[in-house]
Amino acid sequence: MMDSFATRLLTWHSDHGRKNLPWQQNRTPYRVWVAEVMLQQTQVTTVIPYYQRFLKTFPTVISLSRASDDEIMQCWSGLGYYRRALNLRDSARIVVEKYDGVLPSEVHELVKFKGIGRSTAGAIVAQAFGKPAPILDGNVKRVLSRFHELTDPIDRTATDKLLWNLAAQHMPAQQTAEYTQAIMDLGAMVCRRRVPQCSDCPLQSDCRARRHGTVHTIPVRTNKKQPSHMTLRLALIVDNNRRIYLRKQPHDALWATMWMPPTTSEVDHLSCSTSRRLLHCKQLVERRAIDGFTHHLTHRRIRVQAIQFRYDGATETCEANRESGWFFLAQARQLGIPKVTDKLLDLIDL
Ligand code: ADE
Repeated sequence: MMDSFATRLLTWHSDHGRKNLPWQQNRTPYRVWVAEVMLQQTQVTTVIPYYQRFLKTFPTVISLSRASDDEIMQCWSGLGYYRRALNLRDSARIVVEKYDGVLPSEVHELVKFKGIGRSTAGAIVAQAFGKPAPILDGNVKRVLSRFHELTDPIDRTATDKLLWNLAAQHMPAQQTAEYTQAIMDLGAMVCRRRVPQCSDCPLQSDCRARRHGTVHTIPVRTNKKQPSHMTLRLALIVDNNRRIYLRKQPHDALWATMWMPPTTSEVDHLSCSTSRRLLHCKQLVERRAIDGFTHHLTHRRIRVQAIQFRYDGATETCEANRESGWFFLAQARQLGIPKVTDKLLDLIDL
């Protein structure tokens, strides 16, 4: 028999939940997988246009498996957490090579892929394969911890274990896709963190936190994550052909595989003759500070400072698949560049 928690959520969802999201249409495993990865730590309204563009560019797992770093980053630029995109493409390659192009339908197999944790695996299984697999993202943790009035910090291992058990207990055997969307929607739309709309909640009569007036104090956390601050000093090196020097970030960097200007400390090294030869530039003719700006990422505040260096010369032409090179602005915008490079290209004076 279905848990009354689940029946009430399903009824609420059929009246008030989100039913026209792009990944709810034509629900194939590939489409659900891409959506769930994009939705990790990113809001639905932000994801939708990226999702549509991504699916147009890479409509199948095979097309995604063939994507180059630049092709995939061009589609992902602005969404953040760039490693997700590379993991997705690398996993698509494994699906094509080892699974005949068919995404596995079991949680224990899905979690072996990079970038698919237990909750994302559950969301894929429940929505794409119609099997009961619980999820436990931030919204669901809030709903469950309030409903059961868990006063222990939710970032403790024991509480996490308890939350997974509760999530599994409430998970119905049927309508798994609708239920999964319903519990996420309830967390996003009704059981909101700061302004919970308890009077609209289908679970209000049995919600222990609601009954005891503790909704605003739950969930409890031990260590609140403060955004970290960092300063990035970048060198906008331009030549007199109006080109800019960009480098591809290493795979383990914050902006993995994306194209960015070098840091000023790298440029200090570039002034030695070997690096200068590497750059193929001859002479520095201008050095000018550019107004900086603060760039916001979810858990970081990055103060970006930039110095423009103008060189005379730089005759090297750019070839594909290189780790660095000189680009006209229009070419640079065709590369996989993060938002921060995009902003810098707007500031540059050629
Ligand atoms: N967050 C993660 N998956 C989601 C989904 N399917 N709908 C809305 N928010 C989500």
